Amino acid sequence: QAAAEATLRSPICCVLGHVDTGKTKLLDNIRSTNVQDGEAGGITQQIGATFVPTSALAQRTAVINRQGRLELKVPGLLVIDTPGHESFSNLRLRGSSLCDIAILVVDIQHGLEQQTIESISILKKRKTPFVVAINKIDVCYGWTPRLHSGFRASFKNQKGHAQKHFNELASKIVLQLAEQGFNAALYYENKDLKKTVSLVPTSAKTGEGIPDLLGLIVQLTQRWMATRISFKTNVECTILEVKKVQGLGTTVDVILSQGSLKQGQTIVLCGLDGPIRTTIRELLMPQPLRELRVKSNYVSHKVVSAAQGVKIFAKHLESAVAGTPLYVIDDNTDESRIKEIEEKVINELKASLDRFETQEEGVCAQASTLGALEALLVFFETSKIPVSSVDIGPVHKKQVVKCSTQKDALYSCILAFDVPVDPEAKKLAKQKKITIFTADIIYHLFDRYMEFRKTELE
Ligand code: GTP
Ligand code: MG
Ligand code: NA
Repeated sequence: QAAAEATLRSPICCVLGHVDTGKTKLLDNIRSTNVQDGEAGGITQQIGATFVPTSALAQRTAVINRQGRLELKVPGLLVIDTPGHESFSNLRLRGSSLCDIAILVVDIQHGLEQQTIESISILKKRKTPFVVAINKIDVCYGWTPRLHSGFRASFKNQKGHAQKHFNELASKIVLQLAEQGFNAALYYENKDLKKTVSLVPTSAKTGEGIPDLLGLIVQLTQRWMATRISFKTNVECTILEVKKVQGLGTTVDVILSQGSLKQGQTIVLCGLDGPIRTTIRELLMPQPLRELRVKSNYVSHKVVSAAQGVKIFAKHLESAVAGTPLYVIDDNTDESRIKEIEEKVINELKASLDRFETQEEGVCAQASTLGALEALLVFFETSKIPVSSVDIGPVHKKQVVKCSTQKDALYSCILAFDVPVDPEAKKLAKQKKITIFTADIIYHLFDRYMEFRKTELE
């Protein structure tokens, strides 16, 4: 019978939720890492990806799987971390568009918050199944931690007042979910997995409930999504980030959601100045249980199969655009078909940049990725700052020249988010009296510009 079963790929699970509910910390607990402590401002500003292999899933779920009822058939789990800060709704959209299932993280004390509701509506729209992690249970009054324990065993051992506090807070969340149109129940009391959302109490601090959460995700994907997560050969791949790696050169971080990538394969991707056709030199992956977005000792692979977060090294990637798809060209593809793909890739980028409305008079917005740029423009829109031009990548002389056509000092500015400024560009900006604002936290950039504006207007 086993032979008749399709080979499964790793399910992709996206972690969504309001800012500071503990999304990254939950992953840190699963990985035994400390990514969250290293984040600028303690907030996530990029999509991350972590591969959790089956061996780790088996190890973590062992405490709730003594009878061996949970059979692990998936090769692992690819977990995607997203930012909860309000300005990154586009990255939440992208993260959720890549996933098969989602974990919506709610802070037990805060209940449903603004971006929780936003995440719910994204999930609803895409019909993505999800579970709710009620996180930070360790803050319940008088909670006695039981490190890495299954929730039920831990809960049984809590004193009456801790149990009472937990029950009160959890019931509130059930009510709030009902207001959003969802039946919800603690996962082990959930009688109808298809109609009722499962709640999993967790603590990213103590690891309690994490075995339950991982077990549930595996169970739900294996049982209800077997067709969707069966391995197919057609490649589906999206660029997350474009990054320079010291001693190597420019690389792209991608999420491979279907099929396999091989060293030596020809790929086509979207570049700022046109399509990029190149050959995969290196397929690099972090060690299992390490975050793709964090620098580490990458391991080189000949072949990588979905689902995985992969760093691709190839020539000509400097102008690659994050957020766009990557296509694989088979050896027998003829030139006219490749040309078609190249055209498609460029049209997709044009469509993305055209969506941004620009005015004659306004500041110049520059960001590292399409996603970051979108986030930046959300700020400008809500604060009524007009934008005259947008671009992706480092600030070069070209952008300074473009900006120098602005007459008003208020708009002779480049607001650069998460990108370096070329020294030549800096020099030219000084000559032309153009102010370049840079920041790696999106709202700092905004604050700096607003301050400048205030002094200019005085
Ligand atoms: P963004 O990515 O910025 O949206 O935040 P996040 O959801 O990833 O939350 P993050 O992991 O940055 O955690 C936010 C804060 O909550 C940090 O100070 C964590 O240490 C704390 N925290 C997270 N999980 C828990 C938990 O289970 N218990 C307690 N007591 N604190 C937690
Ligand atoms: Mg985070
Ligand atoms: Na945070």
